[in-house]
Amino acid sequence: MYGGRFPLLEEQILFYESQGYLQLHNVLSPEEVSTLRAAIDVAAEDRKRLKENWGPRVDEGYAKVFLQMVNVWERYPAIEEYTLSPRIADIARQLTRAPFVRLWHDHALIKYPNDSKATAWHQDKVYWPMQESGALSCWMALDDVTIQKGCMWFLPGSHTLGPLDPVDLGGGDEESLLRTLPTSMRGVRPVVMEMKAGSCTFHHGLTFHYAGPNVTSGPRRAMVTIFMPAGTHYKKLEHIVGDRGNLTEGEEFHGPLFPAVGRQQ
Ligand code: SIN
Ligand code: NI
Repeated sequence: MYGGRFPLLEEQILFYESQGYLQLHNVLSPEEVSTLRAAIDVAAEDRKRLKENWGPRVDEGYAKVFLQMVNVWERYPAIEEYTLSPRIADIARQLTRAPFVRLWHDHALIKYPNDSKATAWHQDKVYWPMQESGALSCWMALDDVTIQKGCMWFLPGSHTLGPLDPVDLGGGDEESLLRTLPTSMRGVRPVVMEMKAGSCTFHHGLTFHYAGPNVTSGPRRAMVTIFMPAGTHYKKLEHIVGDRGNLTEGEEFHGPLFPAVGRQQ
């Protein structure tokens, strides 16, 4: 499952570098999607049953944005197989032009039917304890996603703005972006990432992104894996996954909590 490599064209890497995102179709087979989706459903059921908190922010506003389960790869071998898989990490390695990447964390993000809020426009990097800005996310659709289902939107080229202020992720509407953006970006039109299950997007940690509420009758299940290019250094910053790995300020990420994946063969 999830094996093999996924070679990109140089023009796809250049597109990612200039636009800050890339959409890739049919990265997982239908069988791989159903296996991963079933594993995520088990995790979501366990989480509800055990009332465990697997993603520390549980206030009402945030809870309606999505059910967030962080570092599920450590609890479920079936999810670990995906999160540490060579195919996804290989794409991240190519996009960052690094010799390999390290996992920062994974998280499953489920917007439940008719009971979700928008994910406000934001940049991920401003929440990550990293000195460099090269880390990126793979957002894998486990359901067919449309605007109505709460698919992702990106603001092309916004990664070139550098880090702006963090926002309240649960307090967002489509207009909230406009209030935070420098005037230079206000004419840029967001692009919508509708796609089939098994397709995915990669986005740079500084690329502004948004997802609307899920107003359909089915769940919107996404599996997100976040990778850092080799040689990324730790910066002390409070984060929802906690202060893992006993790293000190300026130390290079290393160790089994941040496994090296996607090494070129
Ligand atoms: C979402 O899936 O709604 C947002 C994902 C992200 O912020 O990376
Ligand atoms: Ni994000």
